[in-house]
Amino acid sequence: MRVAVITVSDRASRGEYEDRSGPALEEVLSELAPGITVAREVVADERDSILAALERHTDCDWIFTTGGTGPAPRDVTPQATETFIDRPLPGLAELLRRESLAETPFAVFSRATAGMRGTTYVVNAPGSVKAARLCARVFAPLLEHGKKMARGEGH
Ligand code: MTE
Repeated sequence: MRVAVITVSDRASRGEYEDRSGPALEEVLSELAPGITVAREVVADERDSILAALERHTDCDWIFTTGGTGPAPRDVTPQATETFIDRPLPGLAELLRRESLAETPFAVFSRATAGMRGTTYVVNAPGSVKAARLCARVFAPLLEHGKKMARGEGH
């Protein structure tokens, strides 16, 4: 199971602060889904940079992004994701938003989306460490089944 975690943050990409969300997502996912391999990177809140990062991981079964999903002018992760995917999977984003709403009403401000390019799933998570951890908890049990179904092996 190959997974990519892409942190989308201007400041983290410039080294102005340490990325904590990407490592948190990886840590929880690896704990709950042992045996997966995780590639991580950090990119700026630029549509083209995010798209290029997504393109670098089309060999992965799952790509999780964290950050850049809010209503701020530089939040463009969902737009880049929509350009990347060839099939939307709104249920994945709905699931994460529903679980997030149990933690904070501010979850309504995330425009996070999800979908597939070929057999690769892409899911946007908000940028907070709490959201990244929650995303890992929510999706860890779905990784294997999702991979099988993407390959036509499920039902
Ligand atoms: N969801 C969870 N689970 N935890 C959070 O802390 N923050 C919210 C929302 N969803 C949050 C969350 C807030 S305040 C915003 S603005 C949006 O996610 C978008 O965050 P982002 O721009 O960092 O992606």
